[in-house]
Amino acid sequence: MHVLRQRPILSGVDLSEANDWSDPYPHLAEIRSQGPIVWSDAWEVWLTADHASSQGILRSPSAQRHFVPRAPEPEWESFNRLNALAALDMSGDDHNRVRRTLTPIMRKDRLAQVSSLVQREIDRLLDEVAAQTTATVDLVPSFLEPLPVNVICAVLGLPEDSRARLRAASVLMVSAFEKIQTPAEALASQEASRELEDYFTDLASASGATEESGALFDLVRQSPETLSPEEVVANSVLLFNGGTGAVINALGSGLVSLLSQGTQGRLIPSHGDSSILVAVEEMLRHETPIQLFERVAAEDIEFNGVQIARGERLALLLGGANRDPHVFHDPDQFDIRRDPNPHLAFSAGAHFCLGAPLARLEMQLALASILERFPGIMLAKEPVRSPGFVVRGYDSIAVTLNA
Ligand code: HEM
Repeated sequence: MHVLRQRPILSGVDLSEANDWSDPYPHLAEIRSQGPIVWSDAWEVWLTADHASSQGILRSPSAQRHFVPRAPEPEWESFNRLNALAALDMSGDDHNRVRRTLTPIMRKDRLAQVSSLVQREIDRLLDEVAAQTTATVDLVPSFLEPLPVNVICAVLGLPEDSRARLRAASVLMVSAFEKIQTPAEALASQEASRELEDYFTDLASASGATEESGALFDLVRQSPETLSPEEVVANSVLLFNGGTGAVINALGSGLVSLLSQGTQGRLIPSHGDSSILVAVEEMLRHETPIQLFERVAAEDIEFNGVQIARGERLALLLGGANRDPHVFHDPDQFDIRRDPNPHLAFSAGAHFCLGAPLARLEMQLALASILERFPGIMLAKEPVRSPGFVVRGYDSIAVTLNA
């Protein structure tokens, strides 16, 4: 006879402190130890930190992305519109329609052109880093932030003068995806969403926009039945947000993992060397830059003997899945040679990260260039973590360039 288990309830993990976990992995391991999927009363969501369950849910048509508008709606109006109309929060035919308009951005021939742009930008920024006369250099403001911001702005065709402002607004908008936000932080997210929506709306509707070059203007040229003007704006904001924060944090955290090992045993890979590709995948696995994504059960689901009701939310703890010992040997160890490495940092299934080829390209070229140019690079002091649980990265990574 088929027996359903009682709803397993998470115990012994205080999720109200998640924003302060400097090391979330013991907590994620504890969640995993309580079962493939457990219910959290605190967050009113099913949680999984298990690789097989996360992958299964991400690939299941019964669990979909479903944006629930935030209330009060007038305050969250821009935020709600930007999310509801972007590929990431769509499902079914609408998702396919919108995703199809975005995929040409990652076409091989286009990426080949972007590759030389990325390398030029890396070389320019590293020249500036090398010219600094201070004893230590903070890689976050000098290299990690400007690289992906300048690259995605060039890809989209955005003017240079507004880049810093857009990045600041993006950080504030994305902070709304943290599970814990103060009222002041919520207000800042609402205002930043409005600023981003206004900026992209003005740019997309300006006279002459149809002649401009850049991915944003390719979207503007789509027929309104394929992509409405509001969808052009929402998906441009998604590309900007997706193209910046996660790359900055994946590369930053990955460099910290690598440099924490000192120079001994560090690979000195060079451009075109496959060990760079392997090293970048380990960076993405070991410190997964976006720790949590959600789905909603589109119907009643029975999952590993647990009954999940239609409409209930499921949170995939990707950082936990990427440290699952059933899949990764010695998972807490940063192993620059780990291969194969079936991590879920880019998700799986219908919403698999559209920008993964660009993210990998930027990370591979940046890592190879840094190690080639500064083989003696070392951490100068303890790096400073940025606040939050969902978005995991650093505010400051001070290094010395020569040992
Ligand atoms: C290391 C860097 C990156 C990481 C870790 C990352 C991670 C992710 C993840 C986990 C998802 C899927 C979320 C889900 O399944 O619910 C996603 C979706 C997406 N990402 Fe990325 N991303 C990165 C870089 C980028 C870049 C560079 C771009 C754009 C240029 C981008 C654009 C997108 C878009 C448009 C989607 C939505 C795809 C869809 O819903 O069909 N991402 N990303």
